[in-house]
Amino acid sequence: MSLKYVQIETTSTCNQRCFFCPVSIEKKAKVQLSTERLDQIIDGLKQYPIENIAISGFTEPTHDKDLVGKVAALRVAGFKVSIFTNGSGLKPELTDQLLMLGVSGFTLNLSTLNEDEYRETRGTQDLRRVIPNIDYLIAQTPVQDKSVEITIAVIGRLDGQHAKNLREIDSKYADAGVVNILIIPMVEFAGKSPAVLR
Ligand SMILES: C[S@@+](CC[C@H](N)C(=O)[O-])C[C@H]1O[C@@H](n2cnc3c(N)ncnc32)[C@H](O)[C@@H]1O
Ligand code: SF4
Repeated sequence: MSLKYVQIETTSTCNQRCFFCPVSIEKKAKVQLSTERLDQIIDGLKQYPIENIAISGFTEPTHDKDLVGKVAALRVAGFKVSIFTNGSGLKPELTDQLLMLGVSGFTLNLSTLNEDEYRETRGTQDLRRVIPNIDYLIAQTPVQDKSVEITIAVIGRLDGQHAKNLREIDSKYADAGVVNILIIPMVEFAGKSPAVLR
């Protein structure tokens, strides 16, 4: 067995406080992965048949001001790169730069289209920025372009509320053609659920 899939956390912080995520209850110091450390990681990974490097972790990749530089370094080294994001910081200029660098996967963590539920479950009003950012990404990715995979990860408790959110998100993006909808069962390892979900 060999190492094929790698996840890199390039920054330690996140702008959201999703009640289901440890980030909401565990305050971490702000630390950025340095260029030198990333170069060491790249050197170390070259000996393995790596199939994909996911930029994710319990953090928000777009919170890293040098995300583009880090993705560029990974792409120059020949790695396939995908990004997990809540979408709030995935502004059109950043999307353009990441697509230009050949990022081949975007997984958007979007669990509801309801503004109140979004605010109560994540502690932010970012939904109004997230939707246009996702729409822009989709618009840049023609159906025939199989080189970029867009996935919307819909987290929930596999209950009626989760099913409702899945239906709404699925019907919003059904016509986009390029979007996969992923059902994510929530692992209960953080915080208390907000009233809206009880
Ligand atoms: C931890 S987040 C980090 C990247 C980015 N901040 C985001 O939200 O996509 C990566 C993925 O983990 C999932 N996740 C977070 N908390 C989870 C939980 N309690 N159970 C299952 N998946 C979880 C999210 O849905 C997201 O798709
Ligand atoms: S799931 Fe992602 S967006 Fe939500 S708090 Fe955790 S790291 Fe941040």
